[in-house]
Amino acid sequence: MNIGIIGLGFVGLSLTSVLASKGFNVVGIDVDEEKCNKISNGISPFFEPDLEKTLKKGLKKNLQIKNDFSLIQSCDLIFVTVGTPQNKTGAIDLSIIKKAMNTLGKNIRKSKKQHTILVKSTVVPGTMKDVILPILENSSRKKAGKDFGLISNPEFLQESTAIRDTEFPHAVVLGGYETKFIKKMKLFFTKLHPKTPIIVTNHQTAEMIKYANNSFLATKISFINQLSNICQEIPGANVDDIARTIGLDSRIGKLFLNAGPGYGGSCLPKDMKALIKFATTAGVKPTLLNAVEDINVRQLEQIISIAKERLGNLAGKQITILGTAFKPNTDDIRDSIAIELIKKFLNRKVKITVHDPRALENTKKMFGNKITYEKTIRDALTKSQCAIIMTHWKEYSKINNNMINKMRKKIIIDSRRILSEKEINADYQAIGIGKNK
Ligand SMILES: NC(=O)c1ccc[n+]([C@@H]2O[C@H](COP(=O)([O-])OP(=O)(O)OC[C@H]3O[C@@H](n4cnc5c(N)ncnc54)[C@H](O)[C@@H]3O)[C@@H](O)[C@H]2O)c1
Repeated sequence: MNIGIIGLGFVGLSLTSVLASKGFNVVGIDVDEEKCNKISNGISPFFEPDLEKTLKKGLKKNLQIKNDFSLIQSCDLIFVTVGTPQNKTGAIDLSIIKKAMNTLGKNIRKSKKQHTILVKSTVVPGTMKDVILPILENSSRKKAGKDFGLISNPEFLQESTAIRDTEFPHAVVLGGYETKFIKKMKLFFTKLHPKTPIIVTNHQTAEMIKYANNSFLATKISFINQLSNICQEIPGANVDDIARTIGLDSRIGKLFLNAGPGYGGSCLPKDMKALIKFATTAGVKPTLLNAVEDINVRQLEQIISIAKERLGNLAGKQITILGTAFKPNTDDIRDSIAIELIKKFLNRKVKITVHDPRALENTKKMFGNKITYEKTIRDALTKSQCAIIMTHWKEYSKINNNMINKMRKKIIIDSRRILSEKEINADYQAIGIGKNK
């Protein structure tokens, strides 16, 4: 079976590498020539644990990476994994996927194969039926369901565990009309993931499942952040003990209950905004979703007010940001809360130094010489008047009194409570722990 994957980002490259390493004939296609060259040489364009190892394994088998859409004609299965970002209003921007579908349609027009097209990109309900299907039918001059299959197949992987999540997904969703293509795909995924439940439904439900998933995760984060803010007003209260305990209740579950500076990353913020826009347009007032977003925005403001409380006027102050990646074990800074914080501080004329074990290069691409970059935590803290821990990198748990020795003012705001158990000789404020008044 020949498999094509269109778009080699976090989702596409993880899938490409996993399928190729398992011995499938795989063609990975991306518009970015430089990216294709890197990947062909076994180099991942971004950091993701185990990705390069899996990619190299795949390259030793039957994997081709090219900026050449015509290769898709030989593929039985075609996964579409291009980006679906947000536009300026927060609504979903479908321009990238529309373009990719048009090119795909033109390419399958000439082919005699009955391709099955699976869309993994996150799209709002109705997009498959009302946007993608007509584009594909027009550009291919073929009929969906008869000449080619079109299936919604949302992706649930998390960056930092993308390879494991691709190999062992918690669910496979197949959305579309009950045709021979769905039956074929049910068989394919049963063999690929024997232990994973397969949910067959229609397009619009499959599309909504993905938004339900991400908006629920965002809701859990805002919920614990709200509790964390209450804890801060109760001397000695600790949000982690609360999260750990309620997480033991299987009706609640322990994941996504880490209080912090708010949710960021390439998915939750954009998917929340897209769902809010979609609901509003559909005539439903998204009261809960709006509250979840509102709590998220306020969470960052809270960190800024703690810094102001301690430092007074922030202009000209030297602040160190520890962690710019949106989570540990990735170099992805897309919609990272730390990046948002840096932008807000720069507007207030704060002098910023940053440290991140993986994401310094991406941070440099964004801020250039507007801020200072340090490779070691110690250097990043030297002469600093306040350090703010933003990402839960395990490196930050090593911070001790010796390392903060050269800070000009020993003020630490710890949004992840990494140092809460340590004896640190500093004005230390952990988010989610009530200070004795
Ligand atoms: N990143 C995640 O954690 C994650 C998880 C689940 C779902 N998703 C969804 O999956 C989709 C992809 O996300 P991502 O993070 O992998 O995106 P990404 O931006 O990292 O990668 C998209 C890739 O598509 C390529 N591309 C753009 N136009 C193309 C075209 N016409 N033909 C071929 N390639 C093209 C880009 O060059 C890029 O390499 C999005 O809809 C996202 O919401 C992402």
